[in-house]
Amino acid sequence: MTKTVFLISLSSLLLFSSCAQKAETQTYYSEPYRPQYHFSPDSMWMNDPNGLVFDGSSYHLFYQYHPEDIVWGPMHWGHATSSDLVRWEHQPIALYPDQFGTIFSGSAVMDLKNTSGLGTEENPPMVAIFTYHDAAGAEQKTDNFQTQGIAFSLDKGKSWTKYAGNPVIKNPGYIDFRDPKVFWHEASSSWIMALVAGDHLQLYRSDNLIDWNLTSTFGHEVGAHGGVWECPDLFALELNGETHWVLLISINPGGPNGGSATQYFVGDFDGYDFSSDQESIKWVDFGPDNYAGVTFNNTPNDERLFIAWMNNWSYAQNTPTTKWRSASTLPRELSLFEANDGVRLKNTPIEALEQLKVPAQISLESSGDSTYVNLPSGQAFVRLELMLMTTEFILTTAKDEQLKFSLNADSKTLLIDRSGSGEVSFSEAFNAPIALDLSSSLSEALTLDLWIDVSSVELFVNGGEQSATLQYFSSEPMSRLLYEAVDSGVTVKQLAGIERIW
Ligand code: FRU
Repeated sequence: MTKTVFLISLSSLLLFSSCAQKAETQTYYSEPYRPQYHFSPDSMWMNDPNGLVFDGSSYHLFYQYHPEDIVWGPMHWGHATSSDLVRWEHQPIALYPDQFGTIFSGSAVMDLKNTSGLGTEENPPMVAIFTYHDAAGAEQKTDNFQTQGIAFSLDKGKSWTKYAGNPVIKNPGYIDFRDPKVFWHEASSSWIMALVAGDHLQLYRSDNLIDWNLTSTFGHEVGAHGGVWECPDLFALELNGETHWVLLISINPGGPNGGSATQYFVGDFDGYDFSSDQESIKWVDFGPDNYAGVTFNNTPNDERLFIAWMNNWSYAQNTPTTKWRSASTLPRELSLFEANDGVRLKNTPIEALEQLKVPAQISLESSGDSTYVNLPSGQAFVRLELMLMTTEFILTTAKDEQLKFSLNADSKTLLIDRSGSGEVSFSEAFNAPIALDLSSSLSEALTLDLWIDVSSVELFVNGGEQSATLQYFSSEPMSRLLYEAVDSGVTVKQLAGIERIW
């Protein structure tokens, strides 16, 4: 008798827990606006990607994280891992604030030769290099409250120990002194650190990741200076057998479409100095929601893989999500190409994302003067071909919330208007028109790839020669692509649904 009762209660318990589990999987990552194939934190506030590194088997994405709220606050490093950069697994918080401050942005390396002595050659340490932000010092308006610290992990990022001699770089008197990007420079057998100090870049060298020497500065008088310089990155790329060095610098504000954006310089680096004779200002991405992007260290075939924060400081803390705030961009591969104004940076979603595509039928329908194509619900990939002429196409919901794209042949721009795209009242800046400069394009025929994911579109022109990343907050999925039937010059070449990763 007792046994039967026990069995019944056990089975009802199992039934209850499987129902609860089902309910949990049904609601998990299904809140309004929640991206389905982009990385976003399980809950709470996220900003910049940090410590992007491949450890030999897994990719690590650390990120600026405030675990207590959905607005920015005392920063920690959140952590996620992936074997392919497509599907992510959440990991426990990696770095917590300590007596030197909260943990701002930075990078991570695999110290394969154990130059730091923090591990062994058999078990090389993963070393994180980050900025300490001492909030009390900031409040007292001192000028040395940001310093650089390191931490190491001997179990592939699972647990971390802060270096006992922190901080490894003290602040000589800069209010903004942060975001160390460290990499191994094979040609001069040294660790290099790119660090920003308000309006310029500082380059440091080290043999052991602990003792650093300042070797040069760059940028006081070149490039965009509409805001403070943040999140530098420096790396080499080949084009036609020639090596070019690319410097990424995020600035906030001062982006081409308001608020935050990332500029780049193409130049040369000899292990000590970075130089560039670039005269014009170049942007990695023209969209308003692509910031603080940096690249991975130690990638398997030396690919240059980039992830950015898909938001903008002008309104990031007010977007209408409730359980979490912000997502990362899709991982993109960076390369160089020859444009009509010299060597430029190209960014293309990584090949591995193709596995998420589910082919969909393209069927054209018409309503009044317009032609439309129904889109796979919520997450879709659309490839359009068009001529650089004056034409327009629109992404729209069934309720007529719209994202409008207009090409202008005279000004060689693509204008994007998201002011009618749904919830836009949280910020005036969010409604500003977005212009993508196409003047460096070599051809009149354009291919546009749109990666749509519930509340964001990433748009790539000619395989990434220009791009624009933007968020929108519509009440329903963008379910149609609409354009004028007569001579619109727009052809839908490819359509796909995209699987959820969560
Ligand atoms: C860029 C940034 C970094 C800083 C971090 C703080 O978005 O301002 O310069 O390290 O965010 O969260």
